Amino acid sequence: MYKITIVGAGRVGEAAAQFLAQHQHCEELVLLDVDEGLAVGTALDIQESAPLFRFDTRVIGGADASLMAASQLVIITAGFPRRPGMSRSDVLEANVPIIDAIVDHVRCHAPEATLLMVTNPVDVLTWRAFQRSGFERQRVIGQAGVLDAARMASFVALETGFSPQDVCAMVLGGHGDTMVPLPRYTCVGGVPIDSFLPPEAIERIVQRTRQGGAEILALRQKSSAYDSPGAAIAAMVDAVRHNRRRLMPAVCVLEGEYGQHGVAMGVPTVLGARGMQRVIDLPLEADERELFARSAERVREDIARMAEMDERMQRIAAS
Ligand code: 2OP
Repeated sequence: MYKITIVGAGRVGEAAAQFLAQHQHCEELVLLDVDEGLAVGTALDIQESAPLFRFDTRVIGGADASLMAASQLVIITAGFPRRPGMSRSDVLEANVPIIDAIVDHVRCHAPEATLLMVTNPVDVLTWRAFQRSGFERQRVIGQAGVLDAARMASFVALETGFSPQDVCAMVLGGHGDTMVPLPRYTCVGGVPIDSFLPPEAIERIVQRTRQGGAEILALRQKSSAYDSPGAAIAAMVDAVRHNRRRLMPAVCVLEGEYGQHGVAMGVPTVLGARGMQRVIDLPLEADERELFARSAERVREDIARMAEMDERMQRIAAS
């Protein structure tokens, strides 16, 4: 039996749960939240769509972490979302203790699971989950690039008029303002986009991609994006669950790839059974390399802030 747990029954967790159940990616889907009523109610709501969407997935909600027992995949969406005007890094301090507690539950109840991190700032928190879990890096990945690339592909489709289905985009780096959309690796039906779009249009798409999450938050004010993040989670789960060996960007711990160590960020990977099977070390041009390095610096700054938080907590505990 394949069992998936989603921790966090907020809007991203709910959207992901609906997609995963609807596509029958697992026999059992657990939705966990500290707000038990929210988790149980949302699970029941999704379960009641089963006769309409025709799926057999059993959807269970609750607040007891032991419900995740023996899950093969645990998706972490829980935490504080950013508000309009905030960056994703602004919720780091609030979300670290939440992630720590959840990762400890995973180590206890689902020690063989693959962890898919979604909570922001996702690069830093993927690094955190990797360190705290002690899992091998293949089993600790984060969702960012699939969403960012889907945004970029959507903007290319809107600008060119071609079907979004034929657009394949690539976005690397941290999931923030310094992300690295790569027009050189973005194609429509295999044809590079500079065959269809002038440089100004490509630059517009790059900037809009970087601001994609903020654009939706600024419009909605009360909520970040959740449908496209839910779909991005479902695409990654599909690759892992069915061992598809898909080439997709994922946040992962780098061990020398792209010249980086001691950091997790978005890179092209092969996703299949158990998680990240391989990092694809793409040849980058000088300007792309520089953007990637700048993005890594930004993620490192947050990792350093997290280390300072830990030291502060240790001092308080010792006093
Ligand atoms: C986004 O980009 C919330 O980070 C998420 O929409």
